[in-house]
Formats: sequence, C-alpha cells, structure tokens
Amino acid sequence: MGLFRSSLYLLILCLLQGSNTSLIQLNNNGYEDIIIAINPLVPEDETLIEQIKDMVTSASTYLFEATEKRFFFKNVSILIPENWKENPQYKRPKHENYKHADVLVAPPTFPGRDQPYTRHFAACEEKGKYIHFTPDFVRGKKQNEYGPTGRVFVHEWAHLRWGVFDEYNEDEPFYSSKSKKIEATRCSTGISGMNKVYHCQQGNCIYKNCRIDPQTNLYTKDCQFFPNKVQKEKASIMFMQSIYSIVEFCNAKNHNREAPSLQNKKCNSRSTWEVISNSEDFKNSMPMVESPPPTAFSLMRTSHRVVCLVLDKSENMASFNRLNRMNQAAKHFLLQTIENGSWVGIVAFDSTAHIKSKLTHITGSNERIKLSESLPTEASGGISICSGVKTAFQVIREKFPQIDGSEIILLIAGEDNTVRNCMEEVIQSGAIIHLIAIGPSSEPAVIEMSSMTGGTHHYVSDQVQNNGFMSAFGSLTSGNIDLSQQTLQLESKGLTLTKDPWMNGTVIIDSTVGKDTFFFVTWDKQPPRISLWDPNGRQMGEFTEDKDSKMAYLTIPGFAKVGIWTYSLQAKVNPETLTVTVTSQVVNSVPPIIVNAKMNKDTNSFPAPVIVYAEIQQGYLPVLGVNVTAFIESKSGETEVLDLLDNGAGADSFKNDGVYSRYFTTYKENGRYSLKVQAQGGANIVTRSSQRPRNGALSIPGWTVDGKIEGKPSRSEINEDTQTTLESFSRTVSGGEFVVSNIPKFPLSDVYPPSQITDLDAKPDGDQITLTWTAPGDNFDVGKVQRYVLRISESILALRDNFDTALPVTITDLLPKEANSKETFVFTPGKILEENVTRIFIAIKSVDKSNLTSKISNIVQVPLFIPQADPSLEENRHNTRVNISILVLSVTGSVVVVSIILSTTIYILKKKKNESRPATSSIHDGVSDFKMDSIAEASGVLHITGFAPALKTG
Ligand SMILES: *[C@@H]1O[C@H](CO)[C@@H](O)[C@H](O)[C@H]1NC(C)=O
Ligand SMILES: *[C@@H]1O[C@H](CO)[C@@H](O)[C@H](O)[C@H]1NC(C)=O
Ligand SMILES: *[C@@H]1O[C@H](CO)[C@@H](O)[C@H](O)[C@H]1NC(C)=O
Ligand SMILES: *[C@@H]1O[C@H](CO)[C@@H](O)[C@H](O)[C@H]1NC(C)=O
Ligand SMILES: *[C@@H]1O[C@H](CO)[C@@H](O)[C@H](O)[C@H]1NC(C)=O
Repeated sequence: MGLFRSSLYLLILCLLQGSNTSLIQLNNNGYEDIIIAINPLVPEDETLIEQIKDMVTSASTYLFEATEKRFFFKNVSILIPENWKENPQYKRPKHENYKHADVLVAPPTFPGRDQPYTRHFAACEEKGKYIHFTPDFVRGKKQNEYGPTGRVFVHEWAHLRWGVFDEYNEDEPFYSSKSKKIEATRCSTGISGMNKVYHCQQGNCIYKNCRIDPQTNLYTKDCQFFPNKVQKEKASIMFMQSIYSIVEFCNAKNHNREAPSLQNKKCNSRSTWEVISNSEDFKNSMPMVESPPPTAFSLMRTSHRVVCLVLDKSENMASFNRLNRMNQAAKHFLLQTIENGSWVGIVAFDSTAHIKSKLTHITGSNERIKLSESLPTEASGGISICSGVKTAFQVIREKFPQIDGSEIILLIAGEDNTVRNCMEEVIQSGAIIHLIAIGPSSEPAVIEMSSMTGGTHHYVSDQVQNNGFMSAFGSLTSGNIDLSQQTLQLESKGLTLTKDPWMNGTVIIDSTVGKDTFFFVTWDKQPPRISLWDPNGRQMGEFTEDKDSKMAYLTIPGFAKVGIWTYSLQAKVNPETLTVTVTSQVVNSVPPIIVNAKMNKDTNSFPAPVIVYAEIQQGYLPVLGVNVTAFIESKSGETEVLDLLDNGAGADSFKNDGVYSRYFTTYKENGRYSLKVQAQGGANIVTRSSQRPRNGALSIPGWTVDGKIEGKPSRSEINEDTQTTLESFSRTVSGGEFVVSNIPKFPLSDVYPPSQITDLDAKPDGDQITLTWTAPGDNFDVGKVQRYVLRISESILALRDNFDTALPVTITDLLPKEANSKETFVFTPGKILEENVTRIFIAIKSVDKSNLTSKISNIVQVPLFIPQADPSLEENRHNTRVNISILVLSVTGSVVVVSIILSTTIYILKKKKNESRPATSSIHDGVSDFKMDSIAEASGVLHITGFAPALKTG
C-alpha cells in the first residue's frame, strides 16, 4: 500500500471514529439519528412510545438552555421490538439496530431498581456506551425520586456524549472545606439545604443532627444532605437536576473543586462546563439565534433478519487455503449461527458476480444444509466488489421491495480500487455491510463502507491456528433479537501441531447456555481422531465428517450437561493445524453471561496506546473475578497476549464494574490488528455484583421546606453490594479490528511513561496518613516504575497546576512494586506542614527508568482538624426527646477531650467503626450543642500538635 494511499485511508478512518457504536451526528446544533431502543422484554404498550417522545421533547428545550443555545435533539429513531404488533406508522429500520442503541428502555435488573444511569467505562471526555431507562422511569412513575424525565435525560446525555461525571458522591457525601466546615459534596456550593440523619426507632421517625465520625473527621455514614426545595441556585445539572432552579452546568466560576466528586477525580478538578466546552461538539458549533425546531421522531419496528453472503472467489482466495477456510466458517455460520426465521442468500464474485443461492427462509436444518452446499468451490479470476454487492441487492429485491436493514456479509481478499464507484450507492441503499477482510492486502476503502452503514469489520490473517474466520463469522449474530435466541461462542482455538500430535482441551458449559451445543473441528491435511467426553466422563458418539471441506461437527441434541466437557484431537500427520470451535444457545430462564470486547479506537497512530476492553455482564450486572485474556494478532499473524484487569487502575477506569481493560502498546508493524478475547470463570471465584450502577441521576432523599424536611427518605436504593457466586463458564468473542500507522522502522528506546495513578486513597490514622494505590508500570501498566514523587499542598490548584513546585514528601524508601500490585505508604504530615493548615491535598507522579514521568495522580484531600458542623444547617427544633444514651455520649465526649490533652500527639481518637457512637440515641438540642463544643475544644487542644488549627465555635 502506497504512502499516499495509507494516509488517505487513515484520514477516512479518523472521520469514522466511534462509528461502530453510535450513529449520532451533530449537524447545525442538532443531534440527529439518536437511537432509543425498546427491549423485546418490555410488554407491548403504545403509550410508552408517547412518553419517550415527551421525555425527549422536553429534554431538548432544557438541553438548549443549559448549553447556552448550542445543542438540541433534532431527530430520534425509536426502535420497536419485533414482538410488538405491526402498525402502518412503523418503518423497517435501515442502519438502526439494537447494537447501536444510545438509549435502552429495558426492564430493571431488580424489580424496583429504576435508577437511570449511563454505562460509561472510559476516561473523562470519552463517550459512554448507552443510557438505561426502565419503562416505569419513562412512564414518569419515578418523578418523586429523580424529577422530570426530560431533565434526567439531559443529565444522562452529558455522561454519554461528553464524558462528564456526577457531582454528588454517595461514597464520600461530605468533605471538610477550606472554611473549616463540613460540606455536602455538591456543585455548586450555592445549593442550600440541611444535613440530617433520618432515624427511626420503634416506628417513631425523626430527623437528627449529623454527628462527626472521629475516624474520618466527617459526618457519620447515615447523614444526608436535604436540599432546599425553593432556592435560586442554577448549577449544576450533574449534581441534582431535580431541583427546580437548576438549569445549568457548573462552570469555571462556580465549580466546587474541593468536593470529592467523581467529576473532580476523573476530570482533573475541571468543571463539567469546562469539559463540555472542550468537546468536538462544542468546538464545531456556534450558539443559535432562533429557537430550535421540535424533535422529530421515526418509529421503526425490527423484523426478520435478511442476510446475503457476498463471497470473494477471485484468485486471491486460492492461496493460503483461504477458500476452504472461508467455506468452513461460512458453513458453521449457516448451520449454527444464523437464527431461525432469517432469510439468507449467497453471491460469489470474481470480476463478475454469480448468484449461488436466492433468498431462502430458514426454518430448520434442511435449508441450512442446502445453503451450505451452495458455497463457491473454486477460486480464480479478478475482483469486483461492486458487482458482488449490487448482485446481492438484486437477490434481496427479488423477495423484498426494500433493502433497508438487510445485512450483507462481505468477504474480500484483495484490493479493488473500483469500489469507490458504488460507495455512495451502497451507503444510501439502507443495507448494512459487515466486512470480513482476509490477508494483509484486502481493500481498505471497504472499511469505510461498512462503518458508514453501521456494520462491523473484522480482519482475518492467514495464520490458520488463530481461527480468525470462525471468530469473525461467529460474531455476526443478530443484534435485534432477544438474547434467548442467540448463539454464544464458548471456545475458538487452533494449534499447529509439530511433535506432539495431541490437541486436548476442556470447555465449560454453564447453566445459562447448553441448548444445541455444537462442536466444530477443522484440519489442514487429514482428519484427526476426535474424542469428546461429557462432564460425567461419558464418551460422545461420532462426529459428522465433511472431508471435502476438511471439517467435522457434532451437535449435542437438546440440553448439554452442565460442567466441564473434555475433547481430545489426535493429528494423523506432522505437521498439522487443527481448530476447535464450540457454540451453544442460550437457555431461556436466566440471562446468560455475555462478553463484549472492543478497542477504544478503530485507528491509531504510533506511539499512542490503545485500550482493550472486555465487558462481562449477566443481565446488566457486572461479573467479577473472571480470567480475561486478549489475543491481539497483527497482519502477519504475530499474536500478543494480554491479561485484562478490572482493578480500577491504569487503563481500567472503574474497579469492579465488570469491564476488564489494559493498555496495548507493543506494536510490531503497521496495519490491521484483530482482537479476540477469552473469558474463563472458575467456580466459587466468579461473582455477580448487585452494586448499583455508577454514573446516573441522584435520587432525592427529601426536600427542606421552611426548615423542615418533607418526605421520607427511602433507603431501599442504597448501594448494597451483595455478591452472588456464579458457576464456572467460558466464552470467546471477537473484538473486531483496528489499524495502526506511523510505527518507525527502528524501534525507539522508550516512549511510554508509567500510567497515571487513578486510585490514590488517603486515610488519616492518628497523626499519620496512610496512602494506598495500585502500582503503575514502566510502560503504562506493564513492568515496574523507578520511583514515586509524592507532593502535598494546601491548595488543590497549586498541586494540580504546579505539582513540581509543591511541598515534597520523602518517599525514596518505598521500593516500587510490579505493576498492578498494591502500594502502601505511611507518613506524618505534622512534621512537614506549617501551622494553621486545616487540610492537605496529596498527589503522586511516577517516574520510569528513562526518566519519563506519568501524569499527576488523582488528588486526595485529608482534613487535619475536627471540623465544625455547619451552623447554618442547625437542628430541627421539633424533635426534643431526652434519652439516656445522651449521657453516655457526653461522657464519651469528655473522655475524648481528656485523652487528647494527655497525649498531645494524637489528634484523632482511634475507634472501631461500630462502637464510635451509640447509634440509637435521639439528641436534645442542648446536649448536641455540648457535643459540638467538646469536639471544638478537642480540636483547639490539637493546636499543640503543630498542624491542627485553633478553632472555636461562636
Ligand atoms: C434526521 O435528519 C437527517 C437530516 O435532516 C436525515 O438525513 C435523517 O434521515 C433523519 N433521521 C431520521 C431517523 O428521521
Ligand atoms: C491427550 O488426551 C489423550 C486421550 O485422552 C491422551 O492419551 C494424551 O496423552 C493426551 N495428550 C496430552 C499431551 O495431554
Ligand atoms: C485464573 O488465573 C489464575 C492465575 O493465572 C489461575 O490460577 C486460575 O486457575 C485461573 N482460573 C481459571 C478458571 O482459569
Ligand atoms: C495561624 O493562626 C493564628 C491565629 O489565627 C495567626 O495569628 C497566625 O499568624 C497564623 N499563622 C500562620 C502561619 O498563618
Ligand atoms: C530527570 O528529569 C528531571 C526533571 O524532569 C531532571 O531534573 C533530571 O535531571 C532528570 N534525570 C536524568 C537522569 O535524566
């Protein structure tokens, strides 16, 4: 490929970034082609469609005002499932597909858990994957918790489109501010309200003052912030869009940098508006003068799948056994993967096209076998992709007047620059082009065709043992059907055997799959001896051999036994290449464990790293503790193996969200790379977490009205993370392809710094601070760093913007560990700090052996005094009941004072969490004031230790 050509090619690809997920376009301030998909499990209800329209229409106005008249929702497609009734209003979708859905309307994971959220597992400024709303949420039944649905949509949209994060934090709801007060984590601080504990005892519920937890110097866990219902503050939507006056995002002026919000942690303490203003959307648009038009909606109902295989049979297919390998995989696709009820046709092409099979309606194995007998048997001639694709259109049109939404699986093995001649026609046709490109020189422009039509693209090398064909075809399942009809790939593996003739292995069948399990074996020279045993050690019968295609297969009828199946293949010649593929259908009753793999980019220019993601979920719940391995194959077939991690460090944004990630930097050559991911879960190790999803609108605990709190906070949605142990399972998926360019001929010495530390945590402990974090590596998250640089400051901005001049803390005695190990470091700030410092901010950089330095870590803060409660948020004067436990409390308080005076070196009383305070007391005003005084006094005493402030309540 010439230099000019490859750079043109990259230019095209850059324009297509991200197109394999969302089809949204921004055009003249309006977002177009947003897809809202109603899940097939939602019972038919036409009013739901009207409610979706109402939500988006009101969201459009709110978004327009919140973005200073910049953005609105121009048009939206609502995807209606096939199991809903026909309606003349419903069109057949074109490129719109469940796989591209931006918003899913799907039943809740648990009954009653209707929290709206955005699936986002990347860094700040990166797009999210989708928004999940439940039908009850869309119906407006959750307005008391979340406010109007349109406002919530804008909150979620900001996560999805601009990669901003929430400005509340349920894990750290309070922090100590510069003004020595405990404040609720929020943006802006202009939002007024009260901090209270809702407390019930024997059916008698009251609001009490919040108490300070001496472990953290902050309020105890049960304390909540109740915003004033009526207030003037306008920001911010990412904190609580449900407050009526809130119509803006926090900006550089009113942003609360001090609050420990995810927004601050992930976006380097920048405001949401600063991040939004830095987006491509913002840079490419100007505010509008006139009002935007109302949102337009298209209703589209999915129906049976129409697929045409368009297979290259040119002379390019004659080498490397390509034709036969293609036929093996295509047969597997026809026999097993394509869903019943679909229509399938086959076209083969060289310099002209030949119809091998007209559209056939698949109802059972007869049609499948007949189709698999129509594949091309001979490879010769030139290549004309356009004639292949146009003939496919003809095949489809013979049966269906419209080709909208039909899928073409286009398989090509060579260059064909005449493809541009039909590019426009294909893109406009309404068909979806999935591309499987074989070998290093296949036509690159077709990637554009597939991306522009919403298709996927895969790259298959000529390394037979990597089983690329099978992985690529195996991933071409329908995105539009309910999962219960889907075929999942459990195993896809190959081996070139030289000395040892055996290829032995195991496949785990878990109880969520097992219907019509299909074992499929291919060879290169001679049929191997094949044996297969079920989990009880019973040997299965003979495989069906297809000697011409060099393949053999066996279907386990009905439901395969759950457990570990063992196979053993013995090659009869040396050398020999064997492959094994195992697929199985989902069993209806429970959602299956699903693995999705992808790279964060389609194209990349050296030396930037790419990130590999594998998302493992059951239903919408993350699956944890899985061994996840990525195989990244370059165009010449060299394979790099990476263990993916869900540890919240390095490339992985969130710990335990079921997304396993890793940086990939070890590029070997320019060109295409394919990704395959294998996930193996061991019994009693893997769990499903019921943790509430992150990145979503906050549920209102209750409103403060005239100094009283309205409503009863329900704690039912509080984040209870119960982990259910799962059985063993295995899955193998294809993650498509990506393209790398600009790799220099001679490798550079060291271009990768250590990755940024993103999980730095600080815990005060006596007069010491214990820091923990996950070790980065010499190159991002691989290897070992040379040293750490630890600095502290009283000012978060000084630390963020001038890290290198901030106060250093000696950390040279800490020997860095291997990447992804846990690091711990304890230090005493009292010796280093000046007087009067009320809290400190801490951050770390790491340096590698070539003196390359990482980005600054997330910044953590530690309060160095016992703060005072916010006097503006005082007692609810109605609840006056004296209780005997108050006396206990006040006595404890005095003991605290005394012991601190005695020691003068310890400023926090170390206490075990549960015994810290009698949790069941109700507090009388006066007594509670006494408590405040005694704590204030205690911190006054602390002044002696040299780093805590003098502090006195008025
Ligand atoms: C949305 O608007 C664009 C531009 O007007 C148009 O090309 C597109 O077909 C529309 N999509 C839908 C689903 O109406
Ligand atoms: C593979 O399995 C066969 C039959 O179970 C056994 O005889 C052979 O030793 C095994 N080979 C290896 C390398 O484990
Ligand atoms: C997961 O990986 C660990 C360490 O490599 C290994 O000990 C364990 O057996 C693996 N578990 C499964 C189910 O493959
Ligand atoms: C610490 O606070 C005291 C009392 O407010 C003040 O007099 C003193 O100057 C402060 N010290 C420093 C270093 O700011
Ligand atoms: C490493 O970089 C720092 C500043 O970035 C510089 O002061 C120091 O001299 C460098 N050390 C080496 C060994 O290059």
